[in-house]
Amino acid sequence: MVEGDSVLAAAREMLSRADSPAGLDAVKAAFVGKKGRITGMMRELPKLPPGRRPAFGAEVNRLRGEFEAMLAARREAVRAGAVARRLADERLDVSLPGRIGGLGGIHPVNLAMARATDIFAAMGFEVAEGPEVEDDHHNFTALNHPEDHPARSMHDTFYVRGGGHMLLRTHTSPVQIRHMRAGAPPFRAVAPGRVFRVDTIDATHSPMFHQIEGLWVDEGVNFAGLKGVLASFFRAFFADEKIEARFRPSFFPFTEPSAECDIRMDGKWLEICGCGMVHPNVLRAADVDASRYRGFAFGVGVERLAMLLYGVRDLRLFFENDLRFLAQFPSAH
Ligand code: PHE
Repeated sequence: MVEGDSVLAAAREMLSRADSPAGLDAVKAAFVGKKGRITGMMRELPKLPPGRRPAFGAEVNRLRGEFEAMLAARREAVRAGAVARRLADERLDVSLPGRIGGLGGIHPVNLAMARATDIFAAMGFEVAEGPEVEDDHHNFTALNHPEDHPARSMHDTFYVRGGGHMLLRTHTSPVQIRHMRAGAPPFRAVAPGRVFRVDTIDATHSPMFHQIEGLWVDEGVNFAGLKGVLASFFRAFFADEKIEARFRPSFFPFTEPSAECDIRMDGKWLEICGCGMVHPNVLRAADVDASRYRGFAFGVGVERLAMLLYGVRDLRLFFENDLRFLAQFPSAH
């Protein structure tokens, strides 16, 4: 049937231009919908002489069948095309070099603290910890501070309001007491951590800073050992065999004798560490036999170590969180 072939040709042409499900539905309506061309041909059937109806009906059914087959094929092609386009659009080129952005670093004070802790660990010191919110007993009393010691005053110590005898520890020395109470001698430990004092911030002071406490208790421990440990530590920390350090006589209630250790930077001496032989009253407060054991202890200022190691002249830079400053430090110690 000539007309049938031209209908199919028209359908083929329109289908080839339809490239979306909605476009295909429109073509489908135009041929087999209520007002479609093939549907229209079927409506002609009753008007034909009865003799021609079977052949005509069969022909229209064939057209309809071919149209449906073409439509289904085109639908499949449009769907596959959409998938292919999407795959192409969303293609990931995994061979591109990666963009790594905004990687953080370790704060220079933490770098210095980790470096120091590693060196003490290599000398056989274990790492001990204690709370930053401490009680008066561990921070002062057990460390041989008399009741009226000036360090206890509100001018020097942050007390916790409504906290009874609770305070922010003013040094890491209370960890000495906690560590000894938790075990039996000998002891060889360091305690790195944060400490707090009522202080205004300036180039060398801050109300919050870091210390590393050291404690070595055993039979026969002596002052020469203390000097040896500190000297080896400073040489290792600054990777310099000729590092200049000096000891000055000093006083702490919890050591006897006591000393202050200074290190030289740019011709100026910077106080970096308090130390001494552990006072027998401290050993007794920690239930250690003071007639048998002796010990030495020290407390190193970590910000000071970091200032000397990295050549930072103003402590405030550590606490201002200026990325131009912080980004200058290595990402590992
Ligand atoms: N705790 C002392 C301070 O903060 C330092 C120190 C530690 C001194 C251990 C002697 C022994 O200044």
